Amino acid sequence: MLNLIIFGPPGAGKGTQSEKLISKYGLVHISTGDLLRAERNAGTELGNQANDFISRGELVPDAVVIGMVRNYMISKEGANGFIFDGFPRTIPQAEALDRMLEEFNTGISVVLGLEVEEDELVKRLMLRGQTSGRVDDQDESTIRNRFQEYLNKTLPLQGFYTAQGKYQGVMGMGEIDTIFSQLCAKIDSAQAS
Ligand code: C5P
Ligand code: MG
Repeated sequence: MLNLIIFGPPGAGKGTQSEKLISKYGLVHISTGDLLRAERNAGTELGNQANDFISRGELVPDAVVIGMVRNYMISKEGANGFIFDGFPRTIPQAEALDRMLEEFNTGISVVLGLEVEEDELVKRLMLRGQTSGRVDDQDESTIRNRFQEYLNKTLPLQGFYTAQGKYQGVMGMGEIDTIFSQLCAKIDSAQAS
């Protein structure tokens, strides 16, 4: 299996690059943000639990997100591989993911980090807010809160995966196709080694 994590702050282009990677490598997309929003829109208990956290730009508790990912992975058994987009967001989520993949007799192949400057991210998210309909893209204070959560809880994963020899960073500014080619090069060299 080829299992990728697409990593980076909010607005880095994880969703955009995921779509392209999925069609090239035949992967199943696991976007926890999309899954949480779908649960919320369907009015499930999980969605209701998540809603307040999402609208404040805070992270949903680990146990909720981990359980949701686990169920989704089981429902996609037989997949060629997964691309995790927006997950893991914390060290406990990353540890749980390693254990879940072990149960499938597999592991993370490579972690692709999209590196973008904060001013550029705020600009992109405010712009996306005009069309995405996402409550958490609308005002600058919620966006700043999401960055704070990223810095406090998610950025430490860069060290976690560097220690595993799996982190590969790419400059996430510039042309979408140029960034995509760089990501593919990182994947191909990880597969060759
Ligand atoms: O990944 P995305 O930016 O779409 O996530 C949107 C929101 O969903 C996050 O700001 C957060 O509130 C919630 N989320 C979370 N834990 C995750 C993924 C998303 O709490 N692993
Ligand atoms: Mg996204």
